[in-house]
Amino acid sequence: MGINKNRVRVGMIGHQFMGKVHSHAYRDLPFYFDPPAVPVQQAISGRNEAAVREAAEQFGWDSVETDWRRLVERDDIDLIDIVTPNHTHADMAIAAAEAGKHVISEKPLAVTAAQAKRMKDAVEENNVVHMVSHNYRYAPAVQYAAQLIREGRLGRIYHIRAQYLQDFIMDPAFPLVWRLKKEYTGSGALGDIGAHIIDLARFLVGEFHSVSGMLQTFIPERPLEDGSGTGEVTVDDAAGFLARFNNGAMGVFEATRFAAGSRNKNQFEINGEKGSIRWDLENMNNLEVYFEDDEPGMQGFRMIHCTEAEHPYMQAYWPAGHIIGYEHTFIHQMAELINGIHENKSPHANFNDGFENQVVLEAVQESAASGSWMTTEQIKAGL
Ligand SMILES: NC(=O)c1ccc[n+]([C@@H]2O[C@H](COP(=O)([O-])OP(=O)(O)OC[C@H]3O[C@@H](n4cnc5c(N)ncnc54)[C@H](O)[C@@H]3O)[C@@H](O)[C@H]2O)c1
Repeated sequence: MGINKNRVRVGMIGHQFMGKVHSHAYRDLPFYFDPPAVPVQQAISGRNEAAVREAAEQFGWDSVETDWRRLVERDDIDLIDIVTPNHTHADMAIAAAEAGKHVISEKPLAVTAAQAKRMKDAVEENNVVHMVSHNYRYAPAVQYAAQLIREGRLGRIYHIRAQYLQDFIMDPAFPLVWRLKKEYTGSGALGDIGAHIIDLARFLVGEFHSVSGMLQTFIPERPLEDGSGTGEVTVDDAAGFLARFNNGAMGVFEATRFAAGSRNKNQFEINGEKGSIRWDLENMNNLEVYFEDDEPGMQGFRMIHCTEAEHPYMQAYWPAGHIIGYEHTFIHQMAELINGIHENKSPHANFNDGFENQVVLEAVQESAASGSWMTTEQIKAGL
């Protein structure tokens, strides 16, 4: 760590799964990259003092707060990082923006599109740098796919089919955690993991025009976390939807937590007039690519191992062929965030992306409820 570097003093709210992942990214960023400013793990906040002290110790934070509002008010914090359940993001992000702090929020940005719009307005009005944590954009293979598409190597895009498949709540004894209650999460598999494939589609293909969706809750009642009985699951266990894009492309999407055997299968295939690409998080260093103009007889999908110096971010790591993992997507995301703060520009995915994503989520929900196609413009007109 250079001693004369500018510093970005981070205050993090929340300290479990994403708290650990983001903490690691701040720690490793200056180790691998040469950022224009160094993130300083200034303070972490949590409601339970013993738990937050333990997290601070393990994840490397300098101080703790037990009230996130106190953290946001501190004048030794430049960036607020929100890694708490979805229903808390709006109040935290808006308070951070109003206090003049830059802000990164976990996804989905909010629980409703109206709330996401208020968040977007707040960061824009207060001229702070903002980002929403759609980290899969920052897998080098996904960045390379985006580069190939931008260069026109696939030509006009016809199709995207994307699935995000998990199986962690298949056991009916799995408890009624916050992720299964609408007031805390907004939607179920749709907003939790479907939001990621919506983001990848917006990143790689373009803006959604309209959707036709279906949602299903397979297990409507689950044990309460405190063991005092059962409660109602108020979100979808699985979601499927068709989409039309503004550029004429078609999309088929599926997000489920009931795909037995698929622990975290986030995958897409894109077909264009000159070729196709495929990616799968469970083999995240690989990108499958097919080009129509390859020599007849030699045509077929080739597997590119995206660990060469030509692949985005890979120069920071090891010799070609030496793989990286899940946590590195967050390091890359934080590298862009710190660059963005240095240049006073919000990198993608930012709150505008989070808002557009939330509009698609809401369109799928409305379409599933009404049984008819829903345009993103219809959702925006109702805000
Ligand atoms: N980018 C990704 O791939 C990814 C993966 C998992 C989760 N997420 C998102 O990250 C966020 C957090 O998810 P997680 O899996 O880390 O959850 P978690 O349940 O593991 O941790 C939530 C944290 O928030 C704290 N918290 C809960 N309610 C709070 C409140 N009212 N006020 C203050 N703190 C509160 C908890 O104490 C805990 O520290 C969610 O928005 C989720 O959608 C993103």
